[in-house]
Amino acid sequence: MKILAIHGSPRIGNSKILLDEAVRICNLKKHEIKQINPCELNISGCNACNGCSTTGVCVIRDDMDKIYPLLKDSQRIIIASPIFFFSIPAQLKLLIDRCQCLWYEKYVLKRFNSNESRKALVILVGGMKKGEIGATCAEATIKAFLRTIDIKTHKTLSYLGYDNAGEILKTPSILKEVTAETEELLKDD
Ligand SMILES: Cc1cc2nc3c(=O)[nH]c(=O)nc-3n(C[C@H](O)[C@H](O)[C@H](O)COP(=O)(O)O)c2cc1C
Repeated sequence: MKILAIHGSPRIGNSKILLDEAVRICNLKKHEIKQINPCELNISGCNACNGCSTTGVCVIRDDMDKIYPLLKDSQRIIIASPIFFFSIPAQLKLLIDRCQCLWYEKYVLKRFNSNESRKALVILVGGMKKGEIGATCAEATIKAFLRTIDIKTHKTLSYLGYDNAGEILKTPSILKEVTAETEELLKDD
């Protein structure tokens, strides 16, 4: 199946380690996987111009042009991101905000409804040991995004208290959990 892996961090660190593990499992099972990182792409913010309200198409031409088809056509989406200021990094939020055109397409123009059961796995890493609110807020944003792109089911794994790049490897059970949850994600309903 087609899988989209989105990495939300501007650095090669904890979330990348976990995403790499998920991608490894997808490759083992010979799925067609595309990886993107909004930090490496040219994505402008939503202007709230409402230009998409009657067309479902964003008026801005940038790297989002390549991403919309991936968001619509992938059967599984994996998002691995750090928590930044109780939310997600701005670069990933830019991508999400630019999905306002898909929101219009789905909820107003009623043209975008995937029949397939598409699913997502969300992996969040935060540095704060007692930062549950960060994971809650980050997940809320990502959940709104997933519902907008018509993904009704997702599982979130949150790992808190891992700040330095690579520190996540100190707890080997985390990689094992990511392995198991990726295998679960790839199962057909
Ligand atoms: C700008 C910035 C804001 C951050 N805000 C939070 C936060 O609100 N809550 C938290 O738990 N960690 C926060 N952190 C820590 C990161 O989530 C943590 O370092 C994480 O391991 C980074 O993941 P990465 O290695 O995949 O980039 C912040 C880090 C940065 C750079």
